[in-house]
Amino acid sequence: MKLIFATHNDHKLKEVQQLLPESIELLSLKDIQCFNEIPETGETLEENAKIKADFVTQTYGLDCFSDDTGLLVNTLDGAPGVYSARYAGEQKNAVDNMTKLLLELDGKENRQAHFKTVIHLNLEGVSYTFDGIVEGTITTEQYGLGGFGYDPIFKPNGYNQTFGELSSETKNAISHRGRAIQKLVNFLKNRTL
Ligand code: IMP
Repeated sequence: MKLIFATHNDHKLKEVQQLLPESIELLSLKDIQCFNEIPETGETLEENAKIKADFVTQTYGLDCFSDDTGLLVNTLDGAPGVYSARYAGEQKNAVDNMTKLLLELDGKENRQAHFKTVIHLNLEGVSYTFDGIVEGTITTEQYGLGGFGYDPIFKPNGYNQTFGELSSETKNAISHRGRAIQKLVNFLKNRTL
């Protein structure tokens, strides 16, 4: 069975392919010659994930899933949320985004936040969604050089280090994306048994 992962990110594709049974062949947008930047115009993670998967299913007639992730900070009413990638501007720069967030939280006691990933799957005419959440706190400065995005300022609950300091194995095992993907993989495995 062929399944499209609506991503241009080869790293993400490889990570998910490794978790899937061999009977499922995962293809990226590049593999189907889709070079469009699919506009993420939704106001929620759920809407954006659906927009991306539906674009592929409707344009190419193929089964597809997509993911969308955001960092939601309690005291900022869930910001940056769906705007996490471009919080500090369209340049989508991770350091700019972290600097802006640390400034917004300056002097604030409540630094609770969570990452959330939503996956939207279109399979044989039916839609399914899966999500994954990791709770944590925003630190007061950056720690660690690993990962990407907001990793150096996000400390998952139960750990004394940020995602920027923890190994990628540890992060993948407890992360929002890891958890959402695991739900998707379990679902697909059960269907193909
Ligand atoms: P995307 O939906 O996976 O493209 O994620 C949107 C934005 O959320 C990214 O550009 C990052 O700023 C942030 N983000 C997503 N996943 C992570 C993560 O695992 N660590 C840190 N930041 C992330």
